[in-house]
Amino acid sequence: MTLVEKIKQSPKLKKFILWMLIPVNDFRPRWWVRTFVVPFIGHRGKSSIIRKSCRLDIFPNHPFKLGDQSLIESFSIINNAVGDVIIGKQCVIGVSSVIIGPVNIGDKTIIAQHVVISGLNHGYENVEIAPAEQKVITKPINIGENVWIGANAVITAGVQIGKHCIVGANSVVTKDIPDYCVVGGNPARIIKKYNFTTKVWEKL
Ligand SMILES: CC(C)(COP(=O)(O)OP(=O)(O)OC[C@H]1O[C@@H](n2cnc3c(N)ncnc32)[C@H](O)[C@@H]1OP(=O)(O)O)[C@@H](O)C(=O)NCCC(=O)NCCS
Repeated sequence: MTLVEKIKQSPKLKKFILWMLIPVNDFRPRWWVRTFVVPFIGHRGKSSIIRKSCRLDIFPNHPFKLGDQSLIESFSIINNAVGDVIIGKQCVIGVSSVIIGPVNIGDKTIIAQHVVISGLNHGYENVEIAPAEQKVITKPINIGENVWIGANAVITAGVQIGKHCIVGANSVVTKDIPDYCVVGGNPARIIKKYNFTTKVWEKL
């Protein structure tokens, strides 16, 4: 049995390892993890940039990958505690955006400012227990290549966004979006779709 399997099978050991990584009532890794572990885990592509003010809540239990020439702008938060965070090549994660895995972002995708993309939901079904104490539920978010997500948008868990889609500012995306669509509003609806015959973005 491997060490990881041993840890997974023992709730006590699991709790202890978790306590070593994160203080009770906190979500970010301890100082020693941030200093001596976080910089050496995950994969950061060639010429990629992560601004110093970013908060990287990166843990060794899930992958974190940032593609070549991608940029994570100031004050953004990346969290892979409960799911992978995979960001493609030449992507931009705008100022003050939050990405909580499982999230997969295709190449050349732009995330504007103050965008929240979270593959995590808190369980709320049991009314006897606070949502904060219920199990977290994860559903992967997949965002295609060449996508542009406008400022203040929210993408909820499990959503699949096709390639070359545009998400309007302030939208809340709760349903899948096919390729080559412009969506907007709360909940987001398709506003325009590219017609490959007429070569025009047609209003719906
Ligand atoms: C989504 C967006 C790209 C659409 O631009 P566009 O193709 O020129 O769209 P139009 O202006 O022709 O608008 C088409 C319709 O969608 C509506 N619409 C546009 N943006 C919308 C939004 N964010 N939310 C809801 N509806 C929106 C318009 O009101 C219009 O509605 P109508 O047909 O009833 O008049 C743009 O409005 C937007 O939100 N850009 C994001 C800006 C941003 O976040 N910048 C940050 C810097 S990276």
